[in-house]
Amino acid sequence: MIEISVKAGHAHKQRDDAVVLALLDGRKLTESGQALQEAAGKTLSSFLRKFDLSGKFGESRVLYDVEGTFSQRVMLIGAGDEKKLTLQKLRVLGATVARELDKGGARDVSLYLSELAVRGASMAEKVQAVAEGVWLGLYTFDKYKSKKEENKRALRTLTIMVPSRRDLDDAEAAVARARAIAAGTNFARDLANEPGNVCTPEYLGDQAESLTHEHLNVTVMDKKAIEEAGFTALLAVNQGSAKEPRFIVLDYQGGRKDDAAIALVGKGLTFDAGGISIKPAAQMDEMKFDMCGSAAVLGIFRAVTEMNLPVNLLGVIPSTENLLGGAAYKPGDIITSYKGINIEVLNTDAEGRVILSDALAYAAERKPAEIIDFATLTGACVIALGAHATGLMGSGEKLKQGLKLSGDYTYDRVWELPMYEEYQEQIKSEITDIKNTGGREGGAITAACFLSRFVDDIPWAHLDIAGTAWNMKGSEISAKGGTGAGVRLVVDYLLRKVA
Ligand code: BES
Ligand code: MN
Ligand code: ZN
Repeated sequence: MIEISVKAGHAHKQRDDAVVLALLDGRKLTESGQALQEAAGKTLSSFLRKFDLSGKFGESRVLYDVEGTFSQRVMLIGAGDEKKLTLQKLRVLGATVARELDKGGARDVSLYLSELAVRGASMAEKVQAVAEGVWLGLYTFDKYKSKKEENKRALRTLTIMVPSRRDLDDAEAAVARARAIAAGTNFARDLANEPGNVCTPEYLGDQAESLTHEHLNVTVMDKKAIEEAGFTALLAVNQGSAKEPRFIVLDYQGGRKDDAAIALVGKGLTFDAGGISIKPAAQMDEMKFDMCGSAAVLGIFRAVTEMNLPVNLLGVIPSTENLLGGAAYKPGDIITSYKGINIEVLNTDAEGRVILSDALAYAAERKPAEIIDFATLTGACVIALGAHATGLMGSGEKLKQGLKLSGDYTYDRVWELPMYEEYQEQIKSEITDIKNTGGREGGAITAACFLSRFVDDIPWAHLDIAGTAWNMKGSEISAKGGTGAGVRLVVDYLLRKVA
């Protein structure tokens, strides 16, 4: 990730490859823009008059050698209607500007965006949003391209300008927060984008172990240890795979010794072919992303440890492939899970809930204050909410309220689906305790009903990230592929807890 720092000072006095100014609707310049215009005399105002740059959101122009300034370029970026500005729009502006300057050959640049007024937002929040946007927007995954497009003049340092020196301390802290959050998100994206032949359960275990912090303890259980511990549901799904499963436990003691932890549980299915109930061939490659729940958990741990947040966290990741080897579990099989609840397998493709049952039961046993799970769990959730909201279900009312607030704030958004008692009927088994499919109707909800049997009465939130964890078109702040969904959401939730 490139360097970002903060500074106060006039735009026309900077000696940079580019200074970036916002242009609002009606070609209105911000305060820094007006000051630069005065210093530049005729050049800038005549440009604004001549060219059809309206201030429309996201539209940009670069001017070279503007009189009265010392920087090579002045970039104008449309910020649209000032009354409609939001923190998310600042993230998008940060991402857009950084990508364009990176392509355009500017190396050291200054951004005058924090002076844009966002209703209800502090200077620090605006700086954090711009920095997040820059780092998230510059993310790419090109390590497997043997002929890389070489960019000899790639962006190197970026300075977020603030109106006054008095803002510097808060702004620096905001950039540090953004750095940890973006590093955690981009780490989750990297894990997601790795192909299934690289990102195996063993690899996920290694990646968990690569996180180091004096208050973090990581335990990676191999197949033998999993057998000894009795995570039988995870083992059942693993039967069809030639690769060993892993059960990963992360303990972070950043808070007081006696405070109960917040448990984060993530589905780590490194490739989901569906098993014997095999999936259709089209887009099956995307099922390498079926470990995005575990990627979110690891991304959150990375961000939280980097910030030294004073919280206690328990991370639990069950990991395996779901394949069709000769020993694979089959429709009709009955599995006795770690908790002792018997599961009738009616569809081997509903494997996520099966492996999560052991992970949730283990997490609940550790008596955490709350449990949050992350899983690319159901196609039904993609149909219900599409790509713009994660499905939120569960039993912890305060927890769910907190996640909704953080979702709106970070734009890593969630939308709640109901878990009425009646839905539980759909997973009743004829011959044992529960079955692993509840039929087509309300599929995201009945999957959550299944999970609910394993969390005891601990406040619990289930995040179905099937529609949000990856995006094959890419978005304004995310390249094609893994998005890191859930990381910014839950890091913000934790930040509010300790604030
Ligand atoms: N990993 C999939 C869910 C999924 C599907 C995520 C499409 C993203 C896009 C999960 O393991 C699965 O296959 N679920 C089944 C459950 C069904 C068999 C009850 C599904 O959603 O079709
Ligand atoms: Mn599946
Ligand atoms: Zn799956």
